[in-house]
Amino acid sequence: MFDRYNRHINYLRISVTDRCNFRCVYCMPEAGVPLKKHEDILSFDEIVEVVRFGAKQGITKIRITGGEPLVRKDLPKLILMISEIDGIVDIGMTTNGVLLPNYAKELKAAGLNRVNISLDTLNPEKFRKITRLGNLDDVLHGIDAALDAGLQPVKINFVRIPGENKEDEIAVKAFCEERNLMLRFIRQMNLKTGEFYPVKGGSGGICSICNRLRLTADGHLVPCLHSKAHVNIRELGVEKAYRKAIELKPEKGLGTESHEFSNIGG
Ligand code: 5AD
Ligand code: SF4
Repeated sequence: MFDRYNRHINYLRISVTDRCNFRCVYCMPEAGVPLKKHEDILSFDEIVEVVRFGAKQGITKIRITGGEPLVRKDLPKLILMISEIDGIVDIGMTTNGVLLPNYAKELKAAGLNRVNISLDTLNPEKFRKITRLGNLDDVLHGIDAALDAGLQPVKINFVRIPGENKEDEIAVKAFCEERNLMLRFIRQMNLKTGEFYPVKGGSGGICSICNRLRLTADGHLVPCLHSKAHVNIRELGVEKAYRKAIELKPEKGLGTESHEFSNIGG
């Protein structure tokens, strides 16, 4: 599928839930965000329908995001359903890692290829402060579980939080080198003010070569993180929704208040 600016759209990011067991300071307010109603959240069958149609139109690469994707019940089942779709060659997931000890092997067997795990410090107190609810050891066990399961590569997302974790970079870097983890430093962004930056070594954030669409947990196709455009797949049906979303994909993103990291997964 090509958009109006001749960009080849082959990457779909799917948020499977707006819920999270953390409240990272750069992502959510302490009290959390108003949660979507259960009936508004797409079923696995609905998600699969969107992926299947996308794959026919040239989507090859999927990333599962949240909220925290692993708080969605039976996630490995969804991974299996997606991995069986013709044309899908790569499935990744962005997770806080806490639940990986329970699921990593099952996810790998279901067809998940790789994971990105968030780790902004190796200091347990600071980790608690940044994630508000997180326990560092749980995440470290999650990283081990991902490596043991053969999820490859395991990437670490380190969000640079001004005034908070500059001095933690060296320790996280050494930790990653020891374990052969790919480390990515991410500048903290603010979608409301339109402050956004490409992730070095990532594929996003460069409008001229942007190849992605997003699917929100409540069934909107979103062509750009930094534009208000969104189309409801339940209202329009999958085929029309794709057409519309592609049509609405802007040449460049501008600031917008309509999307939140907490429900679109970065
Ligand atoms: N700025 C930059 N990245 C963010 N993420 C979430 N919120 C932000 C933000 N405000 C990204 C981080 C995190 C992933 C879940 O989403 O990379 O690891
Ligand atoms: Fe949850 Fe990830 Fe947001 Fe942290 S950044 S609150 S782990 S969704």
